[in-house]
Amino acid sequence: MIYLNGQFMPVEKAQVSVLDRGFIFGDGVYEVIPVYGRKAFRLAEHLRRLQHSLDGIRLANPHNNAEWTRIIGQLIAYHPGEDQYLYLHITRGVAERDHAFPNPPVAPTVFMLGKPLRTPPLERIKNGIACITATDNRWLRCDIKAISLLPNVLLRQLAIDAGCAETILLRDDQWLTEGAASNIFVVRDGTLLAPPKDHLMLPGITYDVILEIAAANHIPYQVRRISKAEVCAADELLLTSSTKEVLAVTRLDGKPVGAGIPGAMFSKMHQLYQTFKRDVMRHHD
Ligand code: PDD
Repeated sequence: MIYLNGQFMPVEKAQVSVLDRGFIFGDGVYEVIPVYGRKAFRLAEHLRRLQHSLDGIRLANPHNNAEWTRIIGQLIAYHPGEDQYLYLHITRGVAERDHAFPNPPVAPTVFMLGKPLRTPPLERIKNGIACITATDNRWLRCDIKAISLLPNVLLRQLAIDAGCAETILLRDDQWLTEGAASNIFVVRDGTLLAPPKDHLMLPGITYDVILEIAAANHIPYQVRRISKAEVCAADELLLTSSTKEVLAVTRLDGKPVGAGIPGAMFSKMHQLYQTFKRDVMRHHD
C-alpha cells in the first residue's frame, strides 16, 4: 500500500499525471525516513528538514507535523515489518508545462511509500566499502533534498561502473562535501572531522546523530572544511545515511584507506549507533 494525495491504495492503482511538475521539471522535494521497531526514527528532525527543503523551493507544506505523524503512522501500520523504509515525496503539482510556478497555485502531489528496510549486509559492515572520488558538479543548493537528482545519479553511477559502492564528492576538486547519496567523515589522529553543514551538502539526519554520539562519548571531533589531501591521507573514512547507517570506507580510488580494514573509530561508532537506535526506540512513546 502507498499513500497518494490523501488516500492509501495498492501501488498498482496509483496514478500521477504526466503533467506533474515532478515528472516534467523534477520540481519537488523528498525525505527518506527509517523506521525501527515500527517507529519512525528522528521523525521531528526529518520533518524539520522537509520544511527547510519546502521553504528552499517556495512550496507550502501541505500538512502540519501532527498530520504528517498521523499519515506516517497509518502507512507504517499497513506494512508488516518491524524495520521499514519510508519514502516521502512532494511535488508542485499538475499544471500546463511552464517553468513559472502555477498561478494560482495548484494542489501539490503528495506521495509516500513504505517497504522493508534493508540495512547493509554483515559482509559490508565487516569489510567496509570501496569508493571513488569525483568533482562535485552539482548546484549550489545541495542543502535542499530535491527530487531532481540527475547529478547525484550520474555521480553514483561512476562508482558503480568502477565496481565501487559510492562516489565521494570534492567541490572545486578540492573540498570534501559528501557522497552522492551519503555524508562522509574523515578520521585523523583519533579525531572525527566533519564538513560544515552549508549550502554545499545535505544536512544528514545520520550526520547529526554521529556528532551527538561523539559529543556524548567524549570522542574528539571538529566541524570544518576538509581538503582533498586530508581525505586521501585519512586514517579512516566513515560513510553515513539513513539506509546505510554507518559504514567504513576501506578503499578509495583503488588504494587502501589507512590499514585498509574498518578501524577503531568505525567500530566504536557503529556500536554506539546501534545502541543509540535501541535507546531512542525504547524511550519513544
Ligand atoms: N539519501 N547526502 C545526500 C546527497 C543524500 O542523498 C543522503 C541520503 C545523505 C544522508 O542523509 P540522511 O542521513 O538524512 O539519510 C547525505 C537518501 C538515503 C536517499 O536519497 O535515498
